[in-house]
Amino acid sequence: MADPSRRAFVCGHPIDHSMSPAIHGYWISQHGLNATYEKKDIRPEDFRGFLEGLSDAGFSGGNITIPHKEAAFRIVGSMDDAARKIGAVNTVWLENNVLCGTNTDWSGFAANLDDYAPGWDSCDVAVVMGAGGAARGVIFALIDRGVSKIRIVNRTRSRAERLASDFSSSSASKFLVDDWAELQNALQAADLLINTTSLGLEEKENAPDLSGLPSSAIVTDIVYSPLQTPLLEAANKAGLKTVDGLGMLLHQAVPGFEKWFGVRPRVTAQLRNMVIEKMDTAS
Ligand code: ATR
Repeated sequence: MADPSRRAFVCGHPIDHSMSPAIHGYWISQHGLNATYEKKDIRPEDFRGFLEGLSDAGFSGGNITIPHKEAAFRIVGSMDDAARKIGAVNTVWLENNVLCGTNTDWSGFAANLDDYAPGWDSCDVAVVMGAGGAARGVIFALIDRGVSKIRIVNRTRSRAERLASDFSSSSASKFLVDDWAELQNALQAADLLINTTSLGLEEKENAPDLSGLPSSAIVTDIVYSPLQTPLLEAANKAGLKTVDGLGMLLHQAVPGFEKWFGVRPRVTAQLRNMVIEKMDTAS
């Protein structure tokens, strides 16, 4: 008898824009699996019921996206250290009927830089723009890779201070917090600049002045649509090394696929090109 079909999902609200079905669908057909990966548009008030009904619905697990990552963190029965520190769950699976969760955004962020800026983690000072949920994943990755100084620059200073105090007690990395108005000052010391704010989402918005960055600095954005955010465009113009955010999306998908379907898939140039084509036709 053939293996029973395995089912996974991506759940968000709204969910139409998600590229995850394209990524997982590509790997399912590449590996010839008897499996499906579905989009689930679930409203916040229905989310708990959806997660609690996964087993009955025949799902092996799935991805959780905006706005449900923090709710998933509160609902899962078991989670790893990454999810606990980041405070958000983006990948769930069933193990002996227990709903387990992890966060793979941080490892996706690190793997993307490993691909396009190998050796990035030997940097001394990383400057993180933003202090929201996405910044928490990035900071977990910076700590995991032993980056010694992390400077958080955020519009709302108190949020950055909370983030620094949450992470500093359990890490060897040193933290500094700067007001948004002090960004220029922070840039002068940066080996790595990371945008985690939603600034990159609006093409018309201006990128910060990057003239203070050292010429050896690496600039990356976790926003992947548009691929060339205003920040990356400005950095490219200034002749700086840049890494776009698409690889983070591709790499964060790997551990979930392996958990649900038992095969570790690879992030390749062909996969990346397929997703870029899909994004171009969708926009
Ligand atoms: P996410 O989970 O994607 O990180 P979030 O938790 O809402 O989303 O955080 C968004 C981040 O973008 C925050 O750091 C936010 O700054 P505040 O903490 O001051 O709100 C930042 N952000 C959003 N719009 C911004 C803008 N126009 N200028 C500067 N920072 C902005």
